[in-house]
Amino acid sequence: MAHLTLGIETSCDETAAAVVEDARRIRSSVVASQDLLHAPYGGVVPELASRRHVETVWPVVREALTRAAVTLDEIDGIAVTAGPGLIGSLLVGLCFGKALAFARNIPLVGVNHLEGHLYAAMLHHEGLSFPFTGLVASGGHTHLYLATAPGEYRLLGRTRDDAAGEAFDKVAKFLGLGYPGGPRIEEWARKGDPHVVRFPRSIPPRSSYDFSFSGLKTAVVNYVKGTGYRAQGIGGTTPDPQPYPLDPVLVANVCAGFQEAVVDVLVRISLAAAKTSASRRLVLAGGVACNGRLRSRLAQQATEEGVQVYCPAPSLCTDNAAMIAAAGYPRLLRGERAVLSLNADADLALGLT
Ligand code: KG4
Ligand code: ZN
Repeated sequence: MAHLTLGIETSCDETAAAVVEDARRIRSSVVASQDLLHAPYGGVVPELASRRHVETVWPVVREALTRAAVTLDEIDGIAVTAGPGLIGSLLVGLCFGKALAFARNIPLVGVNHLEGHLYAAMLHHEGLSFPFTGLVASGGHTHLYLATAPGEYRLLGRTRDDAAGEAFDKVAKFLGLGYPGGPRIEEWARKGDPHVVRFPRSIPPRSSYDFSFSGLKTAVVNYVKGTGYRAQGIGGTTPDPQPYPLDPVLVANVCAGFQEAVVDVLVRISLAAAKTSASRRLVLAGGVACNGRLRSRLAQQATEEGVQVYCPAPSLCTDNAAMIAAAGYPRLLRGERAVLSLNADADLALGLT
């Protein structure tokens, strides 16, 4: 008989719930975005995020059950994100999941958000199996893993400063393009020429798979300031940014050059890691994996280098609860149960380092 997992995800600024059948078939996936709430600030305001989660978590879970045409009595297990993320946000989903599990006597497991991102690829590609190399590139993480089996991960490399998505968001904020920055920069980059401005690429020494994006971000700021244009300033907290004059051609070319540099680095390092593993399978996940230029450059280069790439649909790359349900399913099936003292961990690590 089919096993139904209810996934709950509130690690950052999306309130999400999903019902997934046997970790492969999505019966429903509901995501309530808080983008409009945080947009005036150019980034997520943690306190506002947790308050909004409190308001939306139950309506979102109810909507996921309705769309899946099931009641709580038919749910076989609950998988909830336990970390990493914003502590206040995490606590809302976790407490809600624990309360639901206790009140209705439903088995519960806590899931690592990063493992969830990797499992999104499983939901999208039926044929994908362990082992594989997995890159999670999101707003909070740029982490490269060797995934050997469910629950078994080894960290191969990570960003030493900004995450890739964070770099997109900060550069977009500096240019006054709005939040979240990734999709805005991608849109502007389509109108620009990536060869007009060549920004520096940070490539680690041979034995390392670490990333670094803060130098690139500074290079963009210095370049734009050097042209004499006034920009908003990274780290500014102006709640209501005013429009200001920036030459659209300059913005388009800077966006194209910046995006090309990020894509170059992500493609080079993740392919280098994937080529050292026997499976030669590479999973690309996390919000930055929505980026069309990254997807096409990686697909092309991977074909040339004999690596098979698995990338979820964009709706599964950004935060969602279907990926949390999929990651929790094998553990629920094995009989794992979270104790009700389970706590959220803002810095929860995935696997061995
Ligand atoms: O995985 P996600 O939804 O949340 C985190 O766990 O952080 O990722 C959000 C990040 C943001 O930094 C956003 O700017 C970035 O993913 N992102 C993109 C694109 N869409 C979202 N970055 C580049 N290109 C995109 N199209
Ligand atoms: Zn995420």
